[in-house]
Amino acid sequence: MDGDVANIPEIVKIAEEFNLITYIDDAHGSGVMGAGAGTVKHFGLSGQVDLQIGTLSKAVGVVGGYVAGSQKLIDWLKVRARPFLFSTSLTPGAAAACLEAFRIMENEPEKIAKVWENGRYLSEGLAKLGFDTGKSDTPITPCIIGDENLTQRFSKRLIEEGVYAKSIVFPTVPLGTGRVRNMPTAAHTKEMLDVVLSIYEKVGRELGVI
Ligand SMILES: Cc1ncc(COP(=O)(O)O)c(C=O)c1O
Repeated sequence: MDGDVANIPEIVKIAEEFNLITYIDDAHGSGVMGAGAGTVKHFGLSGQVDLQIGTLSKAVGVVGGYVAGSQKLIDWLKVRARPFLFSTSLTPGAAAACLEAFRIMENEPEKIAKVWENGRYLSEGLAKLGFDTGKSDTPITPCIIGDENLTQRFSKRLIEEGVYAKSIVFPTVPLGTGRVRNMPTAAHTKEMLDVVLSIYEKVGRELGVI
């Protein structure tokens, strides 16, 4: 939720010890962690996690999802997974857009580096202004506001001022820990992020958050 990363090496160790299947939802990691290849690669654990799923809607920027695992598992899913069997497949246009996104990720690593740089810049800027940026290990940058109503008002004011950052409140997160979640991209410039920070400052002072 906040860009924090699970302790996958420990999970894999425990799974090995007790002969368990490991399954990772890397919706927020693919395209960002492990030079784009995901969180399993980030930890050098390729081949040691049984099943990885992810979305094609976040870093890839299209729609759909993927499952990666052994051939046996994929063959089984093809005949047993209801969402796969009873849904329309990706359109050719969406598939082509995904392939192009993968090509960009492989050939333009500077874009992935830029996401991380932007994440650091935004997070440091918000912290300097006095906001609580929680615990994120990735470019996802939460801004913890607390009270549910205040969080929603905060997000609404940000959107009115030109920053699209949605609120996340109970029951998605524990009561009293409402937050606004920011997702800088590789397309943001430093000038854009400075505008974001100045709007955060304005709204933060207006609503008494800082
Ligand atoms: C952890 C996680 N898994 C899966 C998904 C599903 O993504 P989508 O429905 O866009 O493919 C999301 C979306 O927010 C997510 O956060």
